[in-house]
Amino acid sequence: MKVAVSGASGLIGKALVPALRADGHEVLVLVRRTPRTADEHRWDPQHRRIDPSLLGDVDAVINLAGTPIRPRPFTAAYKKSLLDSRVDATSTISEALATAAAADPGRRRVLLSASAVGFYGDTGARTVTERDGPGEDFLARLCVQWEGATAPAEAAGVRVVHLRTGLVLGRGALLLQILGLVFRLGLGGRLGSGRQYWPWVSLRDEVDAVRFLLTADDVSGPVNVTGPEPVTNAEFTERLGAAVSRPTFLAVPRFAISLALGEFGRSSVLAGQRAVPAVLQDAGFVFTHTTVDEALRAALSGA
Ligand SMILES: NC(=O)c1ccc[n+]([C@@H]2O[C@H](COP(=O)([O-])OP(=O)(O)OC[C@H]3O[C@@H](n4cnc5c(N)ncnc54)[C@H](OP(=O)(O)O)[C@@H]3O)[C@@H](O)[C@H]2O)c1
Repeated sequence: MKVAVSGASGLIGKALVPALRADGHEVLVLVRRTPRTADEHRWDPQHRRIDPSLLGDVDAVINLAGTPIRPRPFTAAYKKSLLDSRVDATSTISEALATAAAADPGRRRVLLSASAVGFYGDTGARTVTERDGPGEDFLARLCVQWEGATAPAEAAGVRVVHLRTGLVLGRGALLLQILGLVFRLGLGGRLGSGRQYWPWVSLRDEVDAVRFLLTADDVSGPVNVTGPEPVTNAEFTERLGAAVSRPTFLAVPRFAISLALGEFGRSSVLAGQRAVPAVLQDAGFVFTHTTVDEALRAALSGA
C-alpha cells in the first residue's frame, strides 16, 4: 500500500514508519519543515495547506499530528494549541482525502486518525468500550472535535478509524522517563487515591494495532488501542516499582498534583478510564503484551 504518515517524528510515528516499510508499504512522510529526503513532503497544517496531488494516489493516511500533550498546566494558550493543532491537521488531511476520493472514486482509502481514551472523560471503575459516549472535561471535548474533523473524508466514502489510544508505554515515552527517574530515586508512589484506572498499551502493540487496522477492511469508527487489562494507578505504581526494584510506599496527595498541574493533573493524572479494546479483540487482533508487567518490562528494556 502507499501510506502517508503525519506527525511521524513523534513517539508512535518513529516506531511505526520503519515497521510499515518493513511490511513492504511505500511510506510518504508529511513534514512541517523543509523535506530532507525524497519520501518527505511538506505540508502546513497550521494554515490548512497541503498539495492536493499529494494524497491523490495514497491508499492510507495515518494521522498522528498534534501539539504534544505534556505534564504541564493547561493554560488557555496551551489548550488552544492542543485543540487547534489537532483539528487543523485532521481537517487538512480529511478534506484532501475527500477531494482525492471525488476525483478517483474507484480507489479504496482508509484514514487512521489519532484520538485518545481521554474521549471518555473520567469514568471511575466502570469498564468502557467504544460504545460509550464522551466525557465532559477539556480532553474529552478536544477528542470529540478531533474525531469530528474527519467528517469530510467519511462523507466521501473513506474508511475512517479513530485510534482511541491509551497511555503508550515504550522507549522514549515521556511519562515513563519521568516516573522511571522518580521511582529510581526511591520517591515513587501512587498518585492521589491510586484508584483511577490507567489504560496503558505497549508501543509494540500500538504499532501492531495500526498495522492490523490498515487492512482490517470491515473495521471503522472508534477503536480503543489499549492493553486488554487496564490497571489502577496503585497497581501501575506497584508494578513499576517492582520493575525498577524500588519501594513505592510514598503517595503524592491529590492537592499537590492539583496545585502543580491544575486541570491537566485533575483530568489526566487523577482521573482515568478503565477502557478495554473491545473492537480490536472482536476483530481478532492478538496483543504481544497482555499485562502491564510485560509492557513495562519491554519499555524499560528499550523495546
Ligand atoms: N503517546 C501516547 O501515550 C498517546 C496517548 C493517546 C493519544 N496519543 C495521540 O497520538 C498521536 C501520536 O502520539 P505521539 O505520542 O507519537 O505524539 P508526539 O510524540 O507528541 O508527536 C506528535 C507529532 O505531531 C507533530 N506536531 C507537533 N506539534 C504540532 C503542531 N503544532 N501541529 C501539527 N503537528 C504537530 C510532530 O511531528 P512532525 O514534527 O513530524 O510534524 C510531533 O512529533 C498524538 O496526536 C497524541 O495526542 C498519544
